[in-house]
Amino acid sequence: MSSHAQTAPGNGLAEPPLGLEARLPRHVAIIMDGNGRWAESRGLPRLEGHREGAKSVRDVVRAARQVGLEALTLYAFSAQNWARPGQEVSGLMELLRDYLIEERQEIMENGIQLQAIGELDRLPTLVREPLDALIADSAANSDMVLNLALSYGGRESIARAAKQLGEKIAAGELKPSQIDVETFGNAMPTAKLPGLDLLIRTSGEQRISNFLLWEAGYAELYFTSVLWPDFRRQSLHAALEAYQGRERRFGLTGAQIESGDLAP
Ligand code: IPE
Ligand code: IPE
Ligand code: MG
Repeated sequence: MSSHAQTAPGNGLAEPPLGLEARLPRHVAIIMDGNGRWAESRGLPRLEGHREGAKSVRDVVRAARQVGLEALTLYAFSAQNWARPGQEVSGLMELLRDYLIEERQEIMENGIQLQAIGELDRLPTLVREPLDALIADSAANSDMVLNLALSYGGRESIARAAKQLGEKIAAGELKPSQIDVETFGNAMPTAKLPGLDLLIRTSGEQRISNFLLWEAGYAELYFTSVLWPDFRRQSLHAALEAYQGRERRFGLTGAQIESGDLAP
């Protein structure tokens, strides 16, 4: 299939590469890891890796929109990343602000709806302001959701959902017996997005690092040793091709999947 891959001319929003249209995942999430190592291996400060990584974000968002994904969730900053050196944290916040300001036009012109998950209250005003503005202004866009995970933790988001449900029970609006996978899932911040189909992690690490713990329940996992600053549109295409070769079973047998007899 990769022999059909072609680079799109012009602005990169032309036809998707041949072969990728079939069996596309609806929702892809990426743990964008390896910026620090990319920089350190070149004798550069870690922040230079984050700067180069921001270029990958631009390219991958464009490529995702071009191939026709419905939703792309990017792990940009974890709840645990606050514990990094203050200078690195503030450098990351400034890069995030720059991204939100510089990409605003492209996001609007390409019908991308920006969303964010995580403890957004913890973000500094310099990020919060352009973030809130772009979320509000892009709310009616409907061609793709770009969901940024910021100050995000999977355990934290599960705990928050449990708290919300507990408050409803205390207020008499919900019975404990009504809590099941569906009601719980509806309390999660990703409730309105398509289910997660593909979770990508770059940089060779094979762990989830507190990313979409609930949502990844049946996602296909794809690990690549490519460092995030080197992960560009071709790398996304390679991950999508790998996904297309997977058989998703959801607990059924291979024979059931092949026969299309999916009735319970
Ligand atoms: C990912 O790159 C970016 C963030 C976590 C914000 P890292 O900064 O974790 O890069 P490595 O893992 O140190 O190489
Ligand atoms: C996960 O990467 C967080 C983001 C990519 C934003 P980390 O680099 O923080 O994860 P660990 O520390 O290697 O598990
Ligand atoms: Mg890392």
